[in-house]
Amino acid sequence: MCGIIGYVGDREAAPVLLEGLRRLEYRGYDSAGLAVLEEDGSLCVHKRAGKLDELARALQGAPPRGNLGIGHTRWATHGRPTDANAHPVADCSGRVLVVHNGIIENYRTLKEWLQGRGHRFATETDTEVIAHLVEEGLANGQALPEATRAAVSRLQGANAVLVVSSQWPQGLVAARLGNAGGVVVGLGQGECLVASDLPALLPYTRRVIFLSGGEMAQVSRDGVCIYTLSGQPVSRQPVEVPYDPLSVAKGPYKHFMLKEMMEQPECVLDTLRGRVDFESMRVELEDVDLPREVLSRLRRVVLVGMGTSYHAALVGRHYMETIARLPAEAENASEFRYRDPLVGPDTLVVAVTQSGETVDTLAAMEEARSKGCTLAAVCNVIGSQASRLADCVVYTRCGLEVGVCSTKTFTASLVVLYLLACYLAQARGTQPPEVLAGLLSPLARLPYLLGELTERAEEYERLAHLFYRFGNFLYLGRGIQYPIALEGALKLKEVSYIHAEGYPAGEMKHGPIALIDQDMPVVAIAVRDHLYDKMRNNLEQVKAREGRLIVLASEGDEEMARLADHVVGVPEAPPLLLPVLTAVPLQFFAYYIALRRGCDVDQPRNLAKTVTVE
Ligand code: AGP
Repeated sequence: MCGIIGYVGDREAAPVLLEGLRRLEYRGYDSAGLAVLEEDGSLCVHKRAGKLDELARALQGAPPRGNLGIGHTRWATHGRPTDANAHPVADCSGRVLVVHNGIIENYRTLKEWLQGRGHRFATETDTEVIAHLVEEGLANGQALPEATRAAVSRLQGANAVLVVSSQWPQGLVAARLGNAGGVVVGLGQGECLVASDLPALLPYTRRVIFLSGGEMAQVSRDGVCIYTLSGQPVSRQPVEVPYDPLSVAKGPYKHFMLKEMMEQPECVLDTLRGRVDFESMRVELEDVDLPREVLSRLRRVVLVGMGTSYHAALVGRHYMETIARLPAEAENASEFRYRDPLVGPDTLVVAVTQSGETVDTLAAMEEARSKGCTLAAVCNVIGSQASRLADCVVYTRCGLEVGVCSTKTFTASLVVLYLLACYLAQARGTQPPEVLAGLLSPLARLPYLLGELTERAEEYERLAHLFYRFGNFLYLGRGIQYPIALEGALKLKEVSYIHAEGYPAGEMKHGPIALIDQDMPVVAIAVRDHLYDKMRNNLEQVKAREGRLIVLASEGDEEMARLADHVVGVPEAPPLLLPVLTAVPLQFFAYYIALRRGCDVDQPRNLAKTVTVE
């Protein structure tokens, strides 16, 4: 959840750390801090509650000078967001400083043990035990890498840690325990960086090494030395990441969320590129090469994910059943992981995760792995932990998504799940070639149709201005559009803090209809599919109770135009592809409502882009 960064090289560390924290701020932003080893050999620490600008202001005029340092942007788990609890966190002597992402599950026991040995604690954080444990090691004559290894070996839970000490001026030490909190080392010319995520490294280098769980790195200006927690050296070649730093910038857009919504036609085009041969009408997924015996023993598919990715999984379930003709379920990963699910070698588990680092989704994958399932990942971040855990990965090609609210990676994930279902149908021979051709050919038009929707931003803005004062919304959909109702409601909740619920429209008369009145607008997805008539009946029932109706309807649908108070047109497309389209106006609607209410759309309160804690 938090963002961590470290630098060692020839540049002044403070500006590099500050800029890196700006690029990591989407991970947490309730406080921030940095520490630099100054020329006199002392560690200079600055930390502030509040957003990064508070820290930047504190540094103005007297920035610390030195070429080695660490920084942190926080999403509080233990201890309130105060100056004192901000990271870096120090030992008793101030000679050891730590930044940390994760939760130390046994920190109380460790804290009591350390207090018994005379350590005094200055913060309410779990992180502080690391600093004191390292201090113990240094006092016993260990060098910083050894002392850090001994310290982190005692931690339980999933954690990412960076440590510096005035007693070890040559560099910093990084550690990753379990699956939470990515650690990426960037290798530059005469300089190295370490960060939770790629955006912080891209201005300096694209040559990176991802640490796995249970690994540590000794990082100096000359390079990196990786080893396991048990001290075994690890040999790993750097990879070149293809991201362009410019794509991380907002460009002409006011917010990343707006930019990323606008990018959807291009992202879907890139996600399709080279994967469908529109001549032979076949799917080619470059990273999916499941052996014949695996393909033939599959009897079911379980899709897992969290939040928006879970909603994508719910749509994916329809694709697996309708296209691949495999029984399928979608489950919230945090439920799946603790349920002792009945899955095994006949099950394909598909993990949907934009970041590839969501702790619950990774744990669900491990649960599935332990039961002999085949694992596929749908992921946006190249080299992420999910992509490495899976037997095969199909990437969404969206570039980095910076807005905390997922938009472009949602629609691209739907496209990937559709392709994966077509691939399974093709490889297992469960659909005749002409049916497969009929499924694949409309994909070619999808980016164009998305473009038609994104061009109508002003229409969505006008609609949002009519509704931004309401305090509650109901979102309704049926069948494959039900997950889109859930996603529309989630978008509104996340960015505007308005209460919104998504329901399957058939459920209305079993309770939620009691809520309907003039103060509870209903957003309904009623495009032309096999449930259209059922949906229209449900909406008649809403109207009969004087509900206000906003309907996403197929273009030219006069009937819906008569029934609804406001209609948003959706281009015609095969029903299975319509969720990719209906999601888009709902994203814009949430964005413009949030804007009108003065909310911070790119960094909504209490949220973090990548949820690496339970
Ligand atoms: C989406 O807008 C949210 N930020 C959140 O629900 C997100 O989708 C969820 O945390 C899962 O993240 P992942 O896709 O990186 O696994």
